[in-house]
Amino acid sequence: MKQAFFDYFGLKPDVIAKAPGRLEILGNHTDYNEGTVLSVAVDRAMTVAAAKVPGKTCELYDQALESKRIFDLDKLDNPKKGDWANYVKGVVQEFQKRGYDVPAFKAMMKGTVPLSAGMSSSAALEMAFVLVIEKLANLNLDWKTKAKIGQAAENNYVGAKTGLLDQVSSLMGRENQLVYSDFRTLEVHNVPIPKGTAFVVANCMVKHNLTNEYNERREACELAAKLLGVKALRDVTPDMLEQQKGKLPEVAYLRAKHVVGEIDRVEKGAKALSANDLTTFGKLMFQSQYSSTHYFDNSIPELDAMVEIAKTIPGHIGARLSGGGFGGITVHLVYADQAQAYCQALVKAYKEKTGLDTEAMICTAAQGAHLM
Ligand code: GLA
Repeated sequence: MKQAFFDYFGLKPDVIAKAPGRLEILGNHTDYNEGTVLSVAVDRAMTVAAAKVPGKTCELYDQALESKRIFDLDKLDNPKKGDWANYVKGVVQEFQKRGYDVPAFKAMMKGTVPLSAGMSSSAALEMAFVLVIEKLANLNLDWKTKAKIGQAAENNYVGAKTGLLDQVSSLMGRENQLVYSDFRTLEVHNVPIPKGTAFVVANCMVKHNLTNEYNERREACELAAKLLGVKALRDVTPDMLEQQKGKLPEVAYLRAKHVVGEIDRVEKGAKALSANDLTTFGKLMFQSQYSSTHYFDNSIPELDAMVEIAKTIPGHIGARLSGGGFGGITVHLVYADQAQAYCQALVKAYKEKTGLDTEAMICTAAQGAHLM
């Protein structure tokens, strides 16, 4: 990275940061409902090298896309729809809004997180830039502020009203550990991944775009909370929801049923993990997928097909879509000694069932965002 930076810009980088993507393991669309989630930071990351330069002009170069952007620190009010540079410009603007003086920089990035797949390449990019700018501007921010800068960039600049899950997972991940996050209290702790298991990730090969449908789901959840007279769906239990169902329009009820059920499943899942009860944990993952398909309507036939296939492959524990939904990836918890064969069987069966070529990869839980 250092050499590539020097070759391209003719400068040495002042800082290099690496921030991982994430997998959502249980707890779908619960973060913005002040619920809980189990996630991991994965061994696929965005690496950014940067050097401070005089003046007001920043230059970005993406090694993988071989694509360059130039922008002025004083003229950031022009997000271009669908442009990857929005995540960087959005982060810069959020630093500025908080009163920090961001120096001009040249930056090069290189990513191994698949794009638009549900592994949060965007949060990885945001968190890497947050660390880079924090260093270049000589700041010392706490992790919550860093996560919120990334989320605000996404909400305000990109226009996706996403929660804090992706940024928190990217920052707080640890090797061999899950991240348990409570989005009401912002308390986060790590939970060991059961020994002898592995995560397999497979893309259903339909790309997702989170802005429209995601925002609609969020509005339905907020409407449900309002009509139920609570601050957020976190305050509703599955029993309460059934008792007060009559207060909600059908769609808002179904969306709430998913979220409330997911929060319940995260609690049950965390308990199952501490008791090393993999069977229960796997069932909860399959229930989560059922709920996405039938109540939240954020699955698609290809994701459903992949999860159904999972149930037939030796070595499976549980599987579900991971992240926003509407396409992208499925995550599978499998027995580690069968993971390779599982990947091959999944790819083959998926091709037979849907005609689509996919890849399945074994992912491990990695250290959260850090300077190198
Ligand atoms: C996306 C969002 C997250 C979260 C998940 C769904 O990844 O960025 O904030 O809402 O979807 O759980």
